[in-house]
Amino acid sequence: MSEMNAMDSKNGRTRLNQLPEWTALGKHREQLGDTHLRDLFAADPARGTGCTLQVGDLHLDYSKHLVTDETLGLLRELARATGVAELRDAMFRGEKINTTEDRAVLHTALRAPRDAVIEVDGENVVPAVHAVLDKMAAFSDKVRSGEWTGHTGRRIRTVVNIGIGGSDLGPAMAYEVLRSFSDRELDFRFVSNVDGADLHEAIRGLDAEETLFIVASKTFTTIETITNATSARDWLLGQLGGDESAVARHFVALSTNAEKVADFGIDTANMFEFWDWVGGRYSYDSAIGLSLMIAIGPDRFREMLDGFHQVDEHFRTAPAEENAPLLLGLLGVWYGAFFDAQAHAVLPYSHYLSKFTAYLQQLDMESNGKSVDRDGVPVDWQTGPVVWGTPGTNGQHAYYQLLHQGTKVVPADFIGFARPVRDLTPGLAAQHDLLMANFFAQTQALAFGKTPDEVRAEGVAEELVPHKTFRGNHPTTTILADELTPSVLGQLIALYEHKVFVQGAIWNIDSFDQWGVELGKVLAKKIEPVLTGAERGEALDSSTAALVGKYRTLRGR
Ligand code: F6P
Repeated sequence: MSEMNAMDSKNGRTRLNQLPEWTALGKHREQLGDTHLRDLFAADPARGTGCTLQVGDLHLDYSKHLVTDETLGLLRELARATGVAELRDAMFRGEKINTTEDRAVLHTALRAPRDAVIEVDGENVVPAVHAVLDKMAAFSDKVRSGEWTGHTGRRIRTVVNIGIGGSDLGPAMAYEVLRSFSDRELDFRFVSNVDGADLHEAIRGLDAEETLFIVASKTFTTIETITNATSARDWLLGQLGGDESAVARHFVALSTNAEKVADFGIDTANMFEFWDWVGGRYSYDSAIGLSLMIAIGPDRFREMLDGFHQVDEHFRTAPAEENAPLLLGLLGVWYGAFFDAQAHAVLPYSHYLSKFTAYLQQLDMESNGKSVDRDGVPVDWQTGPVVWGTPGTNGQHAYYQLLHQGTKVVPADFIGFARPVRDLTPGLAAQHDLLMANFFAQTQALAFGKTPDEVRAEGVAEELVPHKTFRGNHPTTTILADELTPSVLGQLIALYEHKVFVQGAIWNIDSFDQWGVELGKVLAKKIEPVLTGAERGEALDSSTAALVGKYRTLRGR
């Protein structure tokens, strides 16, 4: 360990892996050795019902984890020693816990009730939150009813959200999740990629007279979004005869930056505001959710916010033994540190959650993909995992092979629902039991596997026994809810937000900045003029220079 790493941090906090609680966990891990989930279940017949939690509408089963009561006790000790509860309270109070950007972290204020008081720099931010929600609701109602018309007086039929990262993934995911609650007469599209193909496919066949563009960007400087928004405006004006006044009826903005919105040519009366204390990846329940609100209506949107708030309150007040985000966060720390798990799979058994894991990738990996602590000292423990996954049944016929018989430890979350969505085509609801049978079967197979003796008992030839053996012991969490409603979506997202928070607090990293995205942006800006020939790119390394040269040749430049 380097001298720097051995030091206590500047704020006097003992480094994570120097804590006695950490050492105790390490010893406990050694004692657990190869203990199998089969042993843990055999030792405690009530494990399947005992290791569960209820949070709002979410039933959480953590019995299929490689933990005992002692493990959980030690992990909670670690949370105590690392001040998770203190940091959580500081976040809820609006303190500037995002230290590298000197910002408060208050996505929880976005779903606080109207009468709550949450102060940033001495000012209660809750009235402003509700003023924006009310403005969004009035606008959404107008679009949904047809009262808001385009430049030529026609009602809006297609809404195109242009944004990237947190200004795209959240609304795109949530629209997909809540499609069955959406106005099916309206069409929603999401454009994020600076590849012109994305916008091309989104506007193909659209009638500009009936199209509303929502330009979503916290900073309103993000090159991908501004480029796409500029192209969309050119397309619209081209379609509508070039009258600039059309922009006001076909473009609205979601941003913290009124000046840049005005510079772009969008009337700030058509801007829906949010604030620098809302991180991009924590923002879809702010104005960034406008497209979703138009889709599902203000009442459903508020139900979703209530779902978020329910889990916020749970996280803030539930005792450690019953605190679901704390538990999930601790389990991730356990596997990363003591099982060398590098990845975490999120496997929803709902077609509507097809973009859920992609959304969580940003939430988790942009938050906790860090390798220096809050003081800038390199960490020598694992931080955020690689988060991945797609809807479960599809995965079963693709990558689950690795989960069952590969060499890696990949803890996984399985998310499923008792009922299919409400407006399913009659007859298709019967398929739900088959879907859910797979859901339950997979965590069973992952946990308990199939022993060589069980394989032999089926009369399998001896040389095939190793191939047909499943070692099991793969840890999973099962999250089961009655139905996928707006409130349940809010609950799920808040659960993951706070899980990520817990892990960042324990790892002592700033989960709310994202400096790691900057370098690539800066370099791309420098390389673009070299591609076009405007600059010579003398400072490029030999590999990049050769690749750029090849590109230019292929483009005939
Ligand atoms: O580049 C990363 C990032 O800053 C994300 O954190 C953010 O969600 C995304 O870009 C989009 O930023 P903006 O909303 O400012 O356009």
